[in-house]
Amino acid sequence: MAASGDQVDLSPLAGVKIDKHSTGGVGDKTSLVVAPLVAAAGIPVCKMSGRGLGHTGGTIDKLEAIPGFRTEMSLAALFDQVRAVGIGLVGQTGNLVPADKQLYALRDVTGTVASIPLIATSIMSKKLAGGADGFVLDVKVGDGAFLKTKAEAEELGQLMVAIGKNAGRKTIAVLSAMDQPLGKAIGNALEVKEAIATLRGEGPPDLEELSLALGAQMLILAGAEQETSAAQARLKKLIANGEGLQVFTRWLAAQGGDPQVVEDLSLLPTAPIVTQVQSSKRGYVGAWHTEALGLTSMRLGAGRAQKGDPIDHGVGLVIEKKIGDWVETGDIIAQVYARSQAEAAVAVDEVLAEVELTPTPPPVLPLVIGYII
Ligand code: URA
Repeated sequence: MAASGDQVDLSPLAGVKIDKHSTGGVGDKTSLVVAPLVAAAGIPVCKMSGRGLGHTGGTIDKLEAIPGFRTEMSLAALFDQVRAVGIGLVGQTGNLVPADKQLYALRDVTGTVASIPLIATSIMSKKLAGGADGFVLDVKVGDGAFLKTKAEAEELGQLMVAIGKNAGRKTIAVLSAMDQPLGKAIGNALEVKEAIATLRGEGPPDLEELSLALGAQMLILAGAEQETSAAQARLKKLIANGEGLQVFTRWLAAQGGDPQVVEDLSLLPTAPIVTQVQSSKRGYVGAWHTEALGLTSMRLGAGRAQKGDPIDHGVGLVIEKKIGDWVETGDIIAQVYARSQAEAAVAVDEVLAEVELTPTPPPVLPLVIGYII
């Protein structure tokens, strides 16, 4: 499958090129944090990413929220940029894995879209054709992921790691929880703001934790570090000394984006209506219906129901209470960023139905569930 169309040759770029892939979630903006941090550690980042569909977002859509940011360029221009600033990220170009398109159509009519081996081959054929020397695969588990159970996610992770290794690429999978949005922000410009805050060391703890976990594995696969703890410490230092944010700023500028947004977040698009979602009950947040939150955000305009639909970069949700937090009646549990009062009102009602409050604290589950090596 990987050889059925164009295959990118990254060998003109010096160094070990490690790609990161997420199976998709809600509020997952880790690539925006991890890519500049890994580049700041001296590992070249040359990456292709996708757009969002349904309840999940896509890195390319998030980057396009930055005024001027270009996500299309020739491979030669991308290589020049990676040599100059250490990082480049574009949308998928060329005729990568045409066999996957045919097989996907066949899966669609044979009830095999959900087949885990076929998902593994679909994802990994595109990764292999992308040409990286190694892959860190973030396999999401939970209500906001497309695999809802740990057993299914483990099976997918094991197959993808085996495929990567059999093809001679260093591959590791990280199983991570997607039982609530990652961080607070869902929606493109909102997520860019949160990624910038995280690169400043002021981001939500869960987003920082997963970014460090994935970034550390990238450094290890690239041979830059041996131990997870040392690799994480190095990335933390690149947050603390501002070097990760500097690389992010140079990266934006190199792809035509307005680098002023880093200092002045008001330059990012924002929705005209911002409405608070106030709880009508009290209790601990026991669960968020995460896929449903992703769909609410999509209907506000942050995502697309069909491939090719236009999106609005300014809209979305900010989740103010995470699982385990105590909520009093009247507390703000979320904020809705909408294009109109009418759309905001619909989203407020939906968000209120998408949270479950419980009288006792729910069990605290780990964000990083395990590694498949
Ligand atoms: N992502 C893919 O690329 N293919 C699938 O089949 C599922 C998720």
